Amino acid sequence: MSDALDIDALVDEARSYIEAAQSTEEIRQMTANVSGKKSPIAEAHRALGGLDPEERKELGRRLHGARTTIEELIERRRAEITFEELTREMAGARIDLTEFIPGAIVAPPARGHLHLVSQTRDALEDVFVGMGFEVAEGPEIETDWFNFGALNIPPAHPARGMWDTFYLNLGSPESTLLRTHTSPVQIHLMEDAVVNGGLPIHAVMPGRCYRRDTPDARHLPVFHQIEGLVVDRGITFADLAGTIEVFTTAYFGPDIHSRLRPAYFPFTEPSAEFEVTCTICHGEGCRTCSMTGWIELGGCGMVDPAVFDAVGIDTDEWTGFAFGFGIDRCAQMRHQIADMRALIENDIRFLRQF
Ligand code: DAH
Repeated sequence: MSDALDIDALVDEARSYIEAAQSTEEIRQMTANVSGKKSPIAEAHRALGGLDPEERKELGRRLHGARTTIEELIERRRAEITFEELTREMAGARIDLTEFIPGAIVAPPARGHLHLVSQTRDALEDVFVGMGFEVAEGPEIETDWFNFGALNIPPAHPARGMWDTFYLNLGSPESTLLRTHTSPVQIHLMEDAVVNGGLPIHAVMPGRCYRRDTPDARHLPVFHQIEGLVVDRGITFADLAGTIEVFTTAYFGPDIHSRLRPAYFPFTEPSAEFEVTCTICHGEGCRTCSMTGWIELGGCGMVDPAVFDAVGIDTDEWTGFAFGFGIDRCAQMRHQIADMRALIENDIRFLRQF
C-alpha cells in the first residue's frame, strides 16, 4: 500500500485546492477536505496500523511532514485572504469628503491672519526691541497693591478716580481687581530685579486692561496698553523725550513727531502727556485733533521716588523713566479707524482689510 500512496501528489493536490480558495468560508470547508478526518492524509494515517514496523516508521515520518506542509499552506492562504478581505472592506468604508463639498478642491479655504490689535502689538514690540528694550508680561488679575498701592496711589487717594475699576473682591485686605493699566507690570519687574539682581531694566510690557467705561468711538472697557520702563544710572528726562520721539517716527513715519505737555500721574514726577502729530491732517489742524494738529497718545514721566521706595530700589544710585499708551489707540490712529468699537465687533469685512 505504501508504494501505491504518492505523498507528493497528495500534497500537490492539497496545494491546488488551498490556492484556489477565495474566502474565509472556502478555506474552512477546504481545510476539512485536505486535512480533516476524511481526507486522504487521515486515511493514509489510519492505514499505518497494518504495516510492518519499519515501513510504518518511514511512512509515518513522511505523512507527518506532508501534514505539516499542508497546514502551513492553509495558514498562509488564510492570512492572505484575511488581509484581502480587510483591504476590500476598508476601501468600501472610505469616505471621500471632497465629494460632498462643492468646489472644495477648486477653492481651498482662505487663510486667516492676526487681528489688527495683535498686529499692532507686534509692530510696537518690534520698534522697541530694535531700540534695545526687552518684552515682559504680567497678570491681568492684580492685587490692590500692584495696581495702585505700590504706584503711589494709596486707598482713598483722589487719583483712584482716574481709573474706574472692576473689583473682584473689594474690601478684603488683599482685594483683587482687573488691572486698569499695564503700570503694575513695572512693579513686578522692579521687585523681581531687586530680588534677582536684575538692574538695570529696559523693558516694554504690552497687555490687556479693563475699565468700567461705556464703549464709545474712542474708549473700550477692555483695551490694550503698552508700558515702558527704564531704570538705570543717570537716566534723565532728556532720555525719556528722546525715546518717545524715536519711537514716534519709527512707528508712525518720518513726518510724525512727538511733544510732551505737563501732566499729573501719581507714579511719575515730573509727569507728562505725550502727543503726536495728528495722523489725519499731518499737523494742519482738523476736526479729529480739534484744530491743534496734535493727538494725545499716552502718559509718561520720571519714576517717582515713592515708587522706588515701595519696591526697595536705592534712589541715590538709580533713576528711571516710564511711559504707557494705548495699543488700540495706535491702531486707530495709524489706520484712521473712526470708531474703536469696530476692533471688538469681529465683523470679518472690517478685519480683512488689515
Ligand atoms: N498708567 C497710565 C494710564 O493708564 C499711563 C501712564 C502714565 C503710564 C504715565 C506710565 C506713566 O508709565 O509714566 O493712564
